[in-house]
Amino acid sequence: MEMGGFIPDNIIEDILGRIDIVEIISSYFPLRKAGRNFKALCPFHKEKTPSFMVSPDKQIFHCFGCSEGGNVIHFLMKHERLEFPDAVRLLAKRSGVVIPEVKKETAPTLGLFRINDAALHFYHENLVNSPQAEGVRQYLLKRGLSKEAWTRFKLGFAPPQGEALVNFLKQKGIGGELAAGSGLIVRRENKEGFFDFFRGRIIYPIFDIRQRVLGFGGRVLDDSLPKYINSPETAVYKKGETLYGLNFSREAIREKGFTIIVEGYMDLISLFQAGFSNIVAALGTALTGEQVRLIKRFSPSVVVVYDGDKAGELAALRGLELLLEAGLDIKLVALPKGLDPDSFVRLKGRDGFASMLKEAKNIFEYKLQLLLRQYDIANLEEKLKVVKEMLPTISRVENAVLRGEYVKQLAARLSVSEENIRIELKKIIQPAGGRPLIKEEPRAADAVLVFSSIREAEATLLKLMLKERSYIKQVKERLGKDAFINPQIRKAIDLLYTIDEEGRSIEPSKIVSHLSDNPTNRVVTRLLLEEDFGSGYEDSGLVFDDCVKKLKEDNRRRMCQQIKEEIHTAQEKGNAGRVEELLREFNALARQIN
Ligand code: UTP
Ligand code: MN
Repeated sequence: MEMGGFIPDNIIEDILGRIDIVEIISSYFPLRKAGRNFKALCPFHKEKTPSFMVSPDKQIFHCFGCSEGGNVIHFLMKHERLEFPDAVRLLAKRSGVVIPEVKKETAPTLGLFRINDAALHFYHENLVNSPQAEGVRQYLLKRGLSKEAWTRFKLGFAPPQGEALVNFLKQKGIGGELAAGSGLIVRRENKEGFFDFFRGRIIYPIFDIRQRVLGFGGRVLDDSLPKYINSPETAVYKKGETLYGLNFSREAIREKGFTIIVEGYMDLISLFQAGFSNIVAALGTALTGEQVRLIKRFSPSVVVVYDGDKAGELAALRGLELLLEAGLDIKLVALPKGLDPDSFVRLKGRDGFASMLKEAKNIFEYKLQLLLRQYDIANLEEKLKVVKEMLPTISRVENAVLRGEYVKQLAARLSVSEENIRIELKKIIQPAGGRPLIKEEPRAADAVLVFSSIREAEATLLKLMLKERSYIKQVKERLGKDAFINPQIRKAIDLLYTIDEEGRSIEPSKIVSHLSDNPTNRVVTRLLLEEDFGSGYEDSGLVFDDCVKKLKEDNRRRMCQQIKEEIHTAQEKGNAGRVEELLREFNALARQIN
């Protein structure tokens, strides 16, 4: 992001449109025709028979031996050891495309920053001085947010009237049309004029690390819903790429060498007041790859502090496994039930929170402990379940030595052989070569048998989405991204959603070009080129339906599992009402499964 010269997407697409991947690659080594594609010995690993494939139709390459893959830009990056912009520049030269040297802050984004900044002062001023905000000031003080905190975090209040900000901006010479781009004011439907997006809410401004205002969160003053609303995504505010508070905490994070990750605005501010300042907030969503990369720039270690209610959820843990994949050293703290970091530190003080931090466990220990509480490993079937849950966690550990250590610990804890765990582990780590992710039987009638594993169903759905745009919408409507487990596939789906919403082309080389991250590229190029092996599916609609069914069922199963856990804790607590309620939920779900 801070690369200096920024190359606009449309220029990259233009270049890709003028360059032939086959021509570029064959200027480095000979390619041999093989059906519709070209083949060669892979330049990225040693091999005797060629498994490096180049597709002139799709303008991508993939090695079925070492899984390397991408478009022509990625090829150059890898082969010539270039950074992305330099590879693009090289291709620009060859294709005669001139790259305009614009900085990322061009006119429209500058405008957004100006509007956000004006709004920031408006909201803040209003909170501090307006007679109308007296109740809000009382509320904040009652919740323990000092005036210093209001100033430091530039908290604000959005007046309840419908057009306060609209009028304020107008006075500043910022008209409705322009301001609507920020999402802070909204055009009235079927009527003239605009109204304020945030009304009668406490405002938490969200900054980037250069202290520019990207957007805002707004909280109600009572129990009404939704509790928070947030600025919509704009050219400057990308929810999944932002971490709240990093501008306040970056120094402390570097100093301490680790980042505390909490969920909410209040958690962060409250901990700051208690003297902890190496914190960011993910703002209530699962962490994305972009956010993880951002964190990694400041520290290699994180401690995730979960609300007590979320702490026992395996589903929440699965989200965190993304951090492992990024090579982060991650530890977890589970707060007591019913408490979030804000309420905890208020109750137990600075020392209480500090000692919780000391007890942080790594994700392996944490998950294993959770599972051992839940399953009886004297029972073989349940023991296998524990193994099955732990394998993906272990497989995501980047460091081989550490991975080996975990295998050893798991084997010892369950009294099974290390060797066998390693065999099972191999099965789930992306197959290194030869075996495609998808079995090749193309018969629709066999589909139910063919897609016996969830991973294959996931991969097949992505493959269909890559091939036919209408499936993107269908997945969104019928399934949702969260139904997918494989983080690479989720990333690819994220991208497809955006591409589809923006009405951009789903041409393979362009899709791949938007994937900044290599493992995802590999999965996508593999799926794209694999199709060329078989004759495709006879009835892709049937296969699609089948995969959707499969994933839905898997999700229900996992939800059942979660409810089971909750029943268990409710029983332990002797909460009979809750147990009954959960049982009903469980039975309803179980019925759907059958
Ligand atoms: P919480 O419900 O834990 O809120 O959501 P909180 O931060 O503790 O706030 P208080 O203590 O009730 O004032 C955690 C975060 O999830 C996001 C917000 O970013 C919030 O800080 N969230 C929550 C939303 O975006 N929308 C919602 O409706 C709720
Ligand atoms: Mn809270």
